[in-house]
Amino acid sequence: MKEKHTIFSLGKASKSWIAFAIIAHLFIAATTVVFFDRIGYVVDALMTHVLTKKTFIETVNIMFLVFLSRLIFSWLANRSVYEISTKVKAGARDKIYSKILELELEYRDVKKTGSIATTTVEGVEQLESIFGLVIPQAFLSLLIPFGLYFYLRRLNSSIALTLLVLVIFIPISIMMVRAWIKKVTKAHWFSYENLHAFYLDSLQGITTLKTFGLVGKRMEEIGKRSENFRKRTMELLQTNLTSNLSMDIIAMCGTAVGIMLAIRYTQSGDLTIGAATIVVLLSYEFFRPLRLLGSYTHIAMQGIAASKSILEILNKDPSKHALSRMTSKAKLDGNFDIVFKNVEFSYREDRNPVLKSVNFELKTGQITALVGESGCGKTTVANLITRFYEPSAGEITIGGKPLHTIDPIEIRNNISMVSQRTYLFHGSIRENLLIAKPDATDDELYETCRKAGILDFVNSLPQKLDASLVEQAKNLSSGQIQRISIARALLKNAPILILDEPTSNVDAENEEKIQATLQEIARTKTTLVIAHRLRTVRDAHKIITLQKGKVAEVGTHKDLLDKKGVYANLIRTQNQFEPVIVN
Ligand SMILES: Nc1ncnc2c1ncn2[C@@H]1O[C@H](COP(=O)(O)OP(=O)(O)OP(=O)(O)O)[C@@H](O)[C@H]1O
Ligand SMILES: [Mg+2]
Repeated sequence: MKEKHTIFSLGKASKSWIAFAIIAHLFIAATTVVFFDRIGYVVDALMTHVLTKKTFIETVNIMFLVFLSRLIFSWLANRSVYEISTKVKAGARDKIYSKILELELEYRDVKKTGSIATTTVEGVEQLESIFGLVIPQAFLSLLIPFGLYFYLRRLNSSIALTLLVLVIFIPISIMMVRAWIKKVTKAHWFSYENLHAFYLDSLQGITTLKTFGLVGKRMEEIGKRSENFRKRTMELLQTNLTSNLSMDIIAMCGTAVGIMLAIRYTQSGDLTIGAATIVVLLSYEFFRPLRLLGSYTHIAMQGIAASKSILEILNKDPSKHALSRMTSKAKLDGNFDIVFKNVEFSYREDRNPVLKSVNFELKTGQITALVGESGCGKTTVANLITRFYEPSAGEITIGGKPLHTIDPIEIRNNISMVSQRTYLFHGSIRENLLIAKPDATDDELYETCRKAGILDFVNSLPQKLDASLVEQAKNLSSGQIQRISIARALLKNAPILILDEPTSNVDAENEEKIQATLQEIARTKTTLVIAHRLRTVRDAHKIITLQKGKVAEVGTHKDLLDKKGVYANLIRTQNQFEPVIVN
C-alpha cells in the first residue's frame, strides 16, 4: 500500500538526533541533581561543623566536573537540535518538490504558486519546532519527573509522591486549553498564508498593477489582510499568555507545597537541613520540563497548522494519468515520427473538450506547422506530445509506440522545446544555455547563438556569455529571451523539435536567420512549429490548421491558399495588418 505521510513521518530522518538530544538533556538534568545533592551535603556538613578540607576539595572538584559536563552536554543538545532542524527541513522540502514533480502540471493548475511557496518555504521552517523542541521535550517531561521522584524518595517518599502528583496538573491544564489554542493558531497560520500568497502575487504583478493604476486598491487589500493577520496574532498572544500564566501558577503553587513540606518535615526532625535544602532546590525542577513543554507546544502549534498544508500536498493522490506516467518504462529509438489518432482532450473532465478527434502526422525530416486562432488548442497539442497531460481518448504514438507506454523523462529527453511561456533562470546566459548540454564548449555555445540570431547581442555585452540575467530575465527584451531559449533548444539537439510561437517577438531580420537555421536542422528532425505570424510557416512542408479543437485543413501554403478555407482566411486577415505575405 502507498505510504501515507503523517507529521511524524516528516521527522523520521532525524530520529537518531532526537534520541541524542533527549540523552543530552537527561545528562544535563542529572548534573543538576548532582549539584543540588552536593549543596545539601555541604549544608549538613556545615550544620554539624564537620566540613573537612578533604570534603571541601572534593566539593570543588565535583562542582568543576558538573560545570564542565553541563557545558559539553548543552553543546551536544544544541548541536542535535540544529541537526534535527536541518534534516527535517531538507527532507520535507525534498518530499514536497518530488511530489510536485510527480503530479506535474495538474497540481499547479489547482493551487496558487504563492501558496505553494508559503507552504514550502515558511511552513517547512515551522516544522523545526515540532521535532527540535516538542518531541524531545515530551520525552523529557515524562522521564525527568520520574527520575526526580526516585531520587527524592530516598530523602522523603511522601514529599516525592506529592510533587509527582502535583505535576500532573500541568498536562491537564494543557489539555484543557489545547482545542482553543489549536483553533486560534490555525486561524493565525491561514491568515498568514493568505497574506503571504497575496503579497507575493502583488509583487510579481506590480508592473501590471501600475499600468492599470491599481496599486492603491491592491495596497488597500494588503492592508486589510495585514490587519486581519495582526488581529489573529494578538488573539494568539492572548491565548498563549493565558495558558502560560495558568501553567506558571500550577508550577509555583507546586513548588510552594514542596517547600512547605520540606519545612514541616525538618521541624518534625524527619529531614535534615541539608536534605530540606535539596527538596527546596529540586521542587521547581519537577515542574520545569512540563512547563517548557507547554511553551514549546504553543510555538509548535504554528508548525502543526503549517504541517497540514504540507501533508495536503504530500498526501494528494496522483491522478490516474500521473500514475500511468510513473509506471511506463518503454524507450524511444530510431523512429521519431509522431502520429495523433482520434485524439480527444479536456483539461477538466467537466468541461468541453479542447481537442476533438484530432488526426495528423509529423514526419521526420519535415517541418510541420500548426496554425489557428488563439485558444484553438495549439499549445495543448505540444503539452500532449511532451506528456504533461494525457489524452482522454485516442492515441498518440512516437515511432509507432503509444505515448502512454513511454517514460515521460525518456520522451522529454528526446524533445527540444521552446515553449510559449519560456523561462530563463537567474544566472548567466551561459548557465541558461548549459542546462541543455552541460558539456558544450564555448565554440558550440557561440555557434548556437549565431543560429538563433542572438550572437550580435551576446557579443555586445561586456561579459558576453557570462552576463547575468536577473530573475525571470527581466533585464532582457522579450525577443532576446525568445532567441536565447531558441539557442537553448537548438543546443539540446534532440530528434524532436517543438517551437511554440518561437519568434512572435523577434524582428524580421533575426526571424530570417532563425528560419534559415530551422530549414537546415529540420532535415534530420521531426519539427513542429506553432505560429501566429503566418509568414513563419510559409516554407513548412505541411501546414495543419486547427479550428475550435478540430483539424480543419492540412496541406502546403499553396494548397491551402487555393482551398480558400480557414487558412486563406487567416492570411487575408493578417495581410490587412501586416501586408508581408505573398501568395
Ligand atoms: N492549464 C489549463 N487548464 C485549463 N484550461 C486550459 C489550460 N491551458 C489552456 N486551457 C484552455 O484550453 C484551450 C486551448 O488552449 P491552448 O493554450 O492550447 O491555445 P492556443 O491555441 O495555444 O492559443 P494561443 O494561440 O493563444 O497560444 C483554451 O480555451 C484555454 O483556455
Ligand atoms: Mg499557445
